[in-house]
Amino acid sequence: MSSADISKIVGYELKDRPVTWLKRDLILYALGVGAKETEDDLPFVYDPKFAAFPTYPVVLTFKGDSPELNLFAERMRGDKLPGFPPVDPNRIVHGSQSIEILKPLPLTSGDGWKWKTRYTGISENKSGVVLTTESVLADPQNVPYAKLYSSSFNLGMKITGDKFNKTIAGPPQAKLTPKTKPDWVYEDQTSSSQALVYRLSGDYNPLHIDPAIGQAAGFGGVILHGLSTFGFAARALLKVVGGNKPDALKLFGVRFTSPVKPGDALQTQIWEVGPGPNGTTEVTFVTKNLRTGKDALGGGIAYIVKSPSAKL
Ligand SMILES: *[C@@H]1O[C@H](CO)[C@@H](O)[C@H](O)[C@H]1NC(C)=O
Ligand SMILES: *[C@@H]1O[C@H](CO)[C@@H](O)[C@H](O)[C@H]1NC(C)=O
Ligand SMILES: *[C@@H]1O[C@H](CO)[C@@H](O)[C@H](O)[C@H]1NC(C)=O
Repeated sequence: MSSADISKIVGYELKDRPVTWLKRDLILYALGVGAKETEDDLPFVYDPKFAAFPTYPVVLTFKGDSPELNLFAERMRGDKLPGFPPVDPNRIVHGSQSIEILKPLPLTSGDGWKWKTRYTGISENKSGVVLTTESVLADPQNVPYAKLYSSSFNLGMKITGDKFNKTIAGPPQAKLTPKTKPDWVYEDQTSSSQALVYRLSGDYNPLHIDPAIGQAAGFGGVILHGLSTFGFAARALLKVVGGNKPDALKLFGVRFTSPVKPGDALQTQIWEVGPGPNGTTEVTFVTKNLRTGKDALGGGIAYIVKSPSAKL
């Protein structure tokens, strides 16, 4: 395939995809990203002051509009790109994910909500091909509530055989992680059943439940969904910087850098960068896996309304 041909993928729009959610989906998601019985997590799992955890929309691209389990393999075949080589689902790695939160979500969607997705980037190098998509969650009147960028790395894929990059839109990039001591640190514990709970939000990839598949993929057993770790990190930022206010978080993005296994402990290290847009504070962060000592999430960036109680 020539570079002119693959350039055409950039800008390609998928058909709108309907989505729905109920309150119980919001609660299940909060549990999947580590909400516990503590007072600060209760607002995301219990009624009186109930609110959607702000990163919830990231699972809706998996869930769609069905409350039932979906077949992972079928879903992978669903998003076929014209002229793109066949994708090996076992050699796709989620490279990065960001979410810009434009409006707080209602607790129950009702009908008429949808994803509008387009491809905004394709790049190739010796190790494979990276595709970037932009997805906007919109209500029945087309009002946008969240904008997501997601990139997936197709390991070993060759298209032009050369270095190639065409990108028309993407998320803001994090500043380099400072060498100084972090301004905030938050530790949390994933549970041995974390992936079993997280998958009920819509990502039924067997890699996260079938040890044989995890072995074959070279992980020595099952691994936790990257987006579960993503949610753990978002909870950490919201607690220590955002005063645990559901609407404090405006942008949150990461690169996925190494796997987490259910039961691993996580440590999120956060540095204040300076003022962000619209009265927010920009922070950068990494989430370390305390079992391996490696960064599980790197290149973290967030715009968050800093709470007066968030002491440096
Ligand atoms: C190719 O791109 C990926 C994803 O951006 C990156 O992780 C990798 O280091 C790059 N490989 C080479 C050989 O440049
Ligand atoms: C591709 O280009 C975009 C913008 O032109 C840039 O932000 C991005 O870092 C580039 N990606 C790679 C893998 O070189
Ligand atoms: C700042 O707020 C305005 C008005 O709500 C919005 O249009 C704009 O996109 C926001 N900017 C950023 C960078 O979030």
